[in-house]
Amino acid sequence: MKAIVHQEYGPAEVLRYTEVGKPSIGDDQVLVRVRAASINHGDRVAMTGTPRIARLAFGLRRPRQTILGRDIAGTVELAGANVTGLQVGDEVFGEMSQRGFAEYVAAPEPHLAPIPAGVTFEQAATLPVAAATALQALRLGQVEPGRTVLVNGASGGVGTFAVQLARTLGAEVTGVCSTRNAELVRSIGAHHVIDYAREDVTRGAGRFDAIVDLAGNHRLSAFRGILAPKGVYVSSSGVGGAVLGPLPRLFAIAVTSPFVSQRLRGLTAKRSVDDLTFLAGLVATGKLTPVIQRTYPLSETADAIRFIEAEHARGKVVLTV
Ligand SMILES: NC(=O)c1ccc[n+]([C@@H]2O[C@H](COP(=O)([O-])OP(=O)(O)OC[C@H]3O[C@@H](n4cnc5c(N)ncnc54)[C@H](OP(=O)(O)O)[C@@H]3O)[C@@H](O)[C@H]2O)c1
Repeated sequence: MKAIVHQEYGPAEVLRYTEVGKPSIGDDQVLVRVRAASINHGDRVAMTGTPRIARLAFGLRRPRQTILGRDIAGTVELAGANVTGLQVGDEVFGEMSQRGFAEYVAAPEPHLAPIPAGVTFEQAATLPVAAATALQALRLGQVEPGRTVLVNGASGGVGTFAVQLARTLGAEVTGVCSTRNAELVRSIGAHHVIDYAREDVTRGAGRFDAIVDLAGNHRLSAFRGILAPKGVYVSSSGVGGAVLGPLPRLFAIAVTSPFVSQRLRGLTAKRSVDDLTFLAGLVATGKLTPVIQRTYPLSETADAIRFIEAEHARGKVVLTV
């Protein structure tokens, strides 16, 4: 089968679209014929090995797992002996532990959710990392009707889901993004849009009940200045220095949080099939619409990643297989 493979860390040029062995499955696994996949910030971390701290997980000198890719959607082609809930031909999606940018992937049954009628493979493939992160961030931020929410990084993969979900939850939503994406962020439900190129949101007079920070471009103290006294700040940003990445921010959160009335939280999104089922249901009923800026064939994954890096993609970029 064909897959996107990298033997070393580096820019998109390290990726090869090449022939590899088709995976075999264990008794608790299914073989999924991948129809679509989506690219996340984490794929670029796995590809570049940056921040360096991430190499503790991905391999110190070179990637331990050479096939890239987490978010997939496809059809079950084979089911292991202990698999009871899925059958050959079922349409499923989920988050893999790498190996997703390939024609086939072996996946544990509990990692997969069914794709409901009316949801395309491309749409389903956008959900596992980005939409689940947005949902879990809003939950951690205790977003509910009437609360004011700031989504910092509203036009990206996670942000376009966070804006729509916060609006669906009945919150008053303010989105921060660049000039060219302001109209998009308004169109998906933000009541207010702040263009970060023209205005520093942390210098405004507003106080938010919740801040979902996906950009990590201001100090924690600056965000606290625009957070209500009992408000919740959720950092989900992987942005940071080339060695430690977001760790200094998470450390600042941990040491500040016990001493202030505001709640400060770092989010590591967890794989949850219940969340995926819920999110796919929202897509099926038209309450959530994945924003897909571009679709590339699997063979052009390197171009897709170069596009994201050069252009700050809006919403998601999807690979079709
Ligand atoms: N904690 C977790 O478990 C988890 C899971 C998934 C993702 N993440 C993290 O979440 C972050 C967002 O992921 P993503 O996939 O949404 O990334 P993305 O698609 O690259 O989006 C980044 C967003 O940040 C905005 N942005 C860039 N510079 C900004 C600035 N100076 N001020 C305000 N906004 C700015 C971009 O706006 P423009 O495009 O308009 O410039 C865009 O809306 C990443 O750091 C990723 O590592 C964390």
